[in-house]
Amino acid sequence: MTTNSPTRLRWTDLVQLGSPPIHGIAELPGSLADVVGLIESVIGRRSHSSRRRVPSAGLGYPYEILLATDDFDALAVVDLAQRNVRTADPDRFRDTDEGYVCLLVGRPWLSMRKYGPRGYLYHLIDSGHALFDLALLGSQTDDPPVTIPPSARDRIHGKVLGIGRIRLRQSATSLPCWRLVVTDAHQMQVGRTAFEELALNIVPQSSTPVPVVFDTSGSLDVRACLDALQVRTSASTFIRAPHPGISTAIDDGLAWGRAMIAQLGLPEPGVTVVGGPDCATPIPQGDLLAALAGQYHLVDAQAFLVFSVGAGEADHIDDGRQALLLAIGVVGQAVYLAAAAKGVGVTGVGGISPEFWNAALPQGQHALYLMALGTAAPHADKPDALMQGGHP
Ligand SMILES: Cc1cc2nc3c(=O)[nH]c(=O)nc-3n(C[C@H](O)[C@H](O)[C@H](O)COP(=O)(O)O)c2cc1C
Repeated sequence: MTTNSPTRLRWTDLVQLGSPPIHGIAELPGSLADVVGLIESVIGRRSHSSRRRVPSAGLGYPYEILLATDDFDALAVVDLAQRNVRTADPDRFRDTDEGYVCLLVGRPWLSMRKYGPRGYLYHLIDSGHALFDLALLGSQTDDPPVTIPPSARDRIHGKVLGIGRIRLRQSATSLPCWRLVVTDAHQMQVGRTAFEELALNIVPQSSTPVPVVFDTSGSLDVRACLDALQVRTSASTFIRAPHPGISTAIDDGLAWGRAMIAQLGLPEPGVTVVGGPDCATPIPQGDLLAALAGQYHLVDAQAFLVFSVGAGEADHIDDGRQALLLAIGVVGQAVYLAAAAKGVGVTGVGGISPEFWNAALPQGQHALYLMALGTAAPHADKPDALMQGGHP
């Protein structure tokens, strides 16, 4: 990890790789393989595929997953892209019956380097999508929720957005693609450039950071959500053909999403259905392309869920707004899964011209994120960000 924040680029920044030292590489031991396997099954890649179970504005993971032992003395990073677990304490992650504490740590810079300040919004929405899925791993328990002891705070780099315990489900899974990488404790959270460090200075610091506890999914039908996860994907292009499942997908998705945000203790964002069979206030067809910031692959969607928040008083992003943006991602993931379960095409849409959508919302609400629903064109490739028509 590069922790210094130079104001001028140094020659050593160019000539040194900056990778952490690797002291050893091994297979994941049983209990760690179990927990990592569970995390991969909800937010990782599908086996033999580059497709992930969670959507993302910028395709990557603008967050990091950490595991901790109960006493927080030992920490490990679960790198879902590289498929390795980095730790300085491999022996502390050998065997346990209890599972591990899991932390979701935001990395806004990974979105902001592509999208500028709006990337901060996207990293929270992306993280909300992941929170929904991680909560599916929680088990009903009377244990008090886990918290980070003050002594561990300085050893965790970045803002912890979520925390929960992931318990073992089965005995000794082997995860052949994954490796345990032994490294130095202070270099475990790799990949942070000096620019990422600098960007932290503009991110609002809370005096009382309270991560969302994702220990359990409450009364949700976890089996139905996990089944839908197997087929969740973003529609690349919509075609003009009415889909009979849209209303049910919206109703189910909003019901699942609201149940989950209540369980997670998050506030409810504004949600307005625009277009679709039951809604009277569609965007005029002539304005739709502009409202979608020129994304022509989305214009034949039949309904749009518009997520919004009140304009609010504060000039900056505060804890309340952070919670609302996470909640938007949580409900967004629920809608993705409900749509997948019904075969309805769906995609999250962050590239919008808000003024068109604001006009369809209750007074004072500001549109931030959409879910487009409709009939997906079969076998169409999602336009890459570099392609004509790719999302901005
Ligand atoms: C916050 C957010 C914003 C997104 N914005 C857009 C968008 O503006 N246009 C679009 O076509 N897709 C958008 N997507 C969908 C992503 O492009 C999609 O998740 C990504 O390409 C990965 O594909 P997959 O969801 O099929 O795994 C967005 C997703 C998220 C979570």
